[in-house]
Amino acid sequence: MNRHYLYDTIIIGTGASGLSLALSLAKTLKVAIISKNNAQQGSTYYAQGGIAAVLDNKDSYELHISDTMVAGAGLCQKDAVKFTVENSKDAISWLINQGVEFDREQDNPHKDFHLTQEGGHSHRRIIHAADATGKAVSTTLIEQAAKEPNITFFENHIAIDLIKNNGEITGAYILDRKRNEVDCFQAKFTVLATGGASKVYLYSTNPEGNSGDGIAMAWRGGCKVANMEFNQFHPTCLYHPKASSFLISEAVRGEGGLLRLPNGKRFMPDFDDRAELAPRDIVARAIDHEMKRLGLDCVYLDISHKPKDFIKQHFPTIYQTCLDLGIDITKDPIPVVPAAHYTCGGIVIDQYGCTSVPGLLAAGETTFTGLHGANRMASNSLLECLVYARSASQYILQQFDQKETPAPAPNWDESRVSEPKEQITISHSWHEIRQVMWDYVGIVRSNKRLERAKKRIQIIKEEVNDFYGHYRINSDLIELRNLVIVAELIIDSAISRKESRGLHFNLDYPEAKSNPDDTILTPEA
Ligand code: FAD
Ligand code: SIN
Repeated sequence: MNRHYLYDTIIIGTGASGLSLALSLAKTLKVAIISKNNAQQGSTYYAQGGIAAVLDNKDSYELHISDTMVAGAGLCQKDAVKFTVENSKDAISWLINQGVEFDREQDNPHKDFHLTQEGGHSHRRIIHAADATGKAVSTTLIEQAAKEPNITFFENHIAIDLIKNNGEITGAYILDRKRNEVDCFQAKFTVLATGGASKVYLYSTNPEGNSGDGIAMAWRGGCKVANMEFNQFHPTCLYHPKASSFLISEAVRGEGGLLRLPNGKRFMPDFDDRAELAPRDIVARAIDHEMKRLGLDCVYLDISHKPKDFIKQHFPTIYQTCLDLGIDITKDPIPVVPAAHYTCGGIVIDQYGCTSVPGLLAAGETTFTGLHGANRMASNSLLECLVYARSASQYILQQFDQKETPAPAPNWDESRVSEPKEQITISHSWHEIRQVMWDYVGIVRSNKRLERAKKRIQIIKEEVNDFYGHYRINSDLIELRNLVIVAELIIDSAISRKESRGLHFNLDYPEAKSNPDDTILTPEA
């Protein structure tokens, strides 16, 4: 039996953005917060390095702004950067008030916070909880949200599509995975806080589930999306058959880690004066170049020259995970490869989280705010989640009383579909999309590769749509239908950018243009 729920606000996503928005609304409004798996499963929980913020007297907003703009390779929107950076201190104070415990200098609770260093930052400005910052943020915010009577968690619920009535979004159809029924959630405001889309690539640092659902739902719902060609590849993902998605934080390089070839030679100084601390696009491309030139499976990240206690104190999770796999990072270099990590583009929102369709807001990695330009600077993402979620809450609270309660939506219609007889079409297409994207739309692109990818994705899209039209929905099919849209948006954006800039490198257009624009795509009406 389908259920109908009416809340003041529905938030789809329980990462840093969804949780901080829910907590900022819950004193006044009734909030449903939805996650496709358990509430912790999302990138937030796995974040390692920390959160960038201007917290040191010798640092300044101007420096953080200019570092972000340099890393963004000429495409950051200055208003968005300024807005984010100038709200960084407040965002961190809010997290501390919620109970997040960040590391202090020498573990002394009365000392200043320990700030680490990452690529592109001209100053130490990353506040962190050892190398498991996301875990500290996620568990604390979930604990706080669980105490709020106005917040209801719906775990293992996967959103399928937005509900649109008279040009306005009034909620979403959501599959309850345990009951296997599609329920109708409605509210005055619906917020997509669904995270990124890096699972569109074969190798990724992201947890399962980052299939770009919010971007695809918003696109089907009529929203603009932007800059989907800028997919960030993290330079250092552990290369090991038993831990294919495990990240080796950029903070390891920030604290002195050096990239080496198998013969021990450093190579980053040949590519950039900032060497291991150049922005990510440069480091990932240099590694890719060396791996292809020498036919290597991986390169090595070496921090073994630092004292053992220092390594164990700063990187306890990385130390233990590697040790369990037989790599003692206090003695041995770590085998690493680049992997898809972050989606810089997404649903276009304004400073209050509003999308181009009324009733629908968005926050976090699923969005395009203009902050990251052509390449996100390390640790600016969690900051963006917090700052934009909190400003979205101000908008919702201000507008709430003037907005009408939505008219009840019809039940999800399953009258024309039957149970799928086999799942092979789904699993095959999943794999094919991710392989095509990795091979043809990866760190280095060319016109020919992009055209090939476009043709193949078009065929898969037709097959997936045919499957969707005939068979009953399930989680894998929901994600696959979204993944194919995200792949298409990335390819179309990459084809339309006739230059190389930041994370988008095309061998046929190796130069950057002098007047770059964002790639803004609008769905057909
Ligand atoms: P997420 O935390 O990814 O959460 C997404 C939520 O949406 C989940 O609850 C998921 O269940 C839900 N969801 C998605 N689709 C659906 C659907 N269809 N139906 C229902 N629910 C859905 N950034 C930094 O700034 N600093 C770091 O140190 C850092 N380290 C990182 C390390 C790793 C390994 C990774 C993968 C990323 C890292 N990042 C870091 C990036 C950062 O963690 C993410 O960009 C950020 O956490 C995204 O938060 P979010 O709230 O947008 O989404
Ligand atoms: C890391 O710790 O290297 C991840 C930081 C980020 O993605 O911002």
